[in-house]
Amino acid sequence: MATRILVADDQPDVVEALRLLLKAEGFEAQPASSPAGVYRAVEGGDFDLVLMDLNYTRDTTSGREGFDLLTRLRDLDPTLPVVVMTAWGSVEGAVEAMRRGARDYIEKPWDNERLLTTLRTQVELGRALRKSQLLEQENLLLKGDGVPELIAASKAMRPVLDVIERVGPSDANVLIVGEHGTGKEVVARWMHHVSRRARAPLVAVNAGAFGEGVFESELFGHVKGAFTDAKTDRVGCFELADGGTLFLDEIANVKPQQQGKLLRVLETGEIQRVGSSKIRKVDVRVLSATNANLGEAVSRGEFREDLLYRLNTVEIPLPPLRDRREDIPLLAVHFLRASAKRYGRELEGFSDAAMDALLRHSWPGNVRELQHAVERSVLMARGSRIEAYDLGLRRREDGSILTEELTLDEAERLLIEKALERSQGNVSKAAEALGLSRSALYRRLQRHDLGG
Ligand SMILES: Nc1ncnc2c1ncn2[C@@H]1O[C@H](COP(=O)(O)OP(=O)(O)OP(=O)(O)O)[C@@H](O)[C@H]1O
Ligand SMILES: [Mg+2]
Repeated sequence: MATRILVADDQPDVVEALRLLLKAEGFEAQPASSPAGVYRAVEGGDFDLVLMDLNYTRDTTSGREGFDLLTRLRDLDPTLPVVVMTAWGSVEGAVEAMRRGARDYIEKPWDNERLLTTLRTQVELGRALRKSQLLEQENLLLKGDGVPELIAASKAMRPVLDVIERVGPSDANVLIVGEHGTGKEVVARWMHHVSRRARAPLVAVNAGAFGEGVFESELFGHVKGAFTDAKTDRVGCFELADGGTLFLDEIANVKPQQQGKLLRVLETGEIQRVGSSKIRKVDVRVLSATNANLGEAVSRGEFREDLLYRLNTVEIPLPPLRDRREDIPLLAVHFLRASAKRYGRELEGFSDAAMDALLRHSWPGNVRELQHAVERSVLMARGSRIEAYDLGLRRREDGSILTEELTLDEAERLLIEKALERSQGNVSKAAEALGLSRSALYRRLQRHDLGG
């Protein structure tokens, strides 16, 4: 379905220029020329985004009508993204618009590329937000006794759920691949939980953590006297997991020498405790996980190809959180409930700006980072809701700052910095762009300690 954008400005030439630009990009643009027209259109139609000017003829300078419209649109549909157009340099207008729920702003005259990027981002985030609200009503969470919840409502996670369902019950060795904090261990626990081994133990071991000698002892066990420190017999992970599942985490860090030993056990299903000649049969299903690219490690000669083939009968790639933004609201609410309970705090949820900040953040630390951010915000929150500044996520993906979270003073400083950047430090030009006199800008530079 085409993306529908409502374009509102009382200058017909502006609307027409935007309409042509959007059409060329495959968007469907519907024009409106007054706040009342915008409201009616949104009431009656289905839009992915509203792009609106702040100033209308009745009252061209204060933007009052535009602000009122923003408030009313927000009441009508809080999930509808609104991007405002402001006159070049009208700092206060942009800030006030964001406070009233605009998701972003564009300065006139606009730059086509930047405008399109902004619109695309906001359409995507708006869709994610809407979808997640629908999904929240359905129950797409996997819930099991003693297994961590796996929240996966996004399209990107469908294949993961699919493999858990289809391959989980089998004895196939599964390699789970994904960045840090994407939920590899959660998936491993679910694979075990849905298998016929569910009643037997799942033994998890950080296979990459052991140095010379210790590896074999940890995995295969040892007998008393096998080496100096071996004061008693020790059962290894393979034996502990007998009849169940062994989860080998950080598999890429297993040293080459150890890889050979591991391969042999996987091929034969037989282990020998260090220092013993007795051969023991074990019935173990092996799940493994890594955040490294094992294919590349193989071509660099750091990982044995035959071992990789043993481990990855089936491979599950876990997408990074930034590729499944629809899951963010569900995960955030889930972590909020859990933390609020743990810390005995009553919280209603997230403010719109806070949710927006969560949706925009790039989450390099994936689900774990989100979990920590929410947990911290639960402790920090002063009111009954989590506000954007409680989250402490000030930067977006491109490194720019989230305007919603700034105080007016911080916003002013930011816009001055930007103007100076654009004018390459030329104060007169920056002042002109900001609609200030040179001396007024100098005063502000001093106040903000910007070396004026
Ligand atoms: N889909 C999810 N639903 C709910 N909680 C999740 C989900 N994915 C991850 N988590 C939670 O996020 C945290 C990190 O997940 P997990 O430890 O499984 O990640 P990982 O991929 O093993 O990370 P690492 O590479 O750092 O070991 C855990 O607390 C886990 O419960
Ligand atoms: Mg892990």
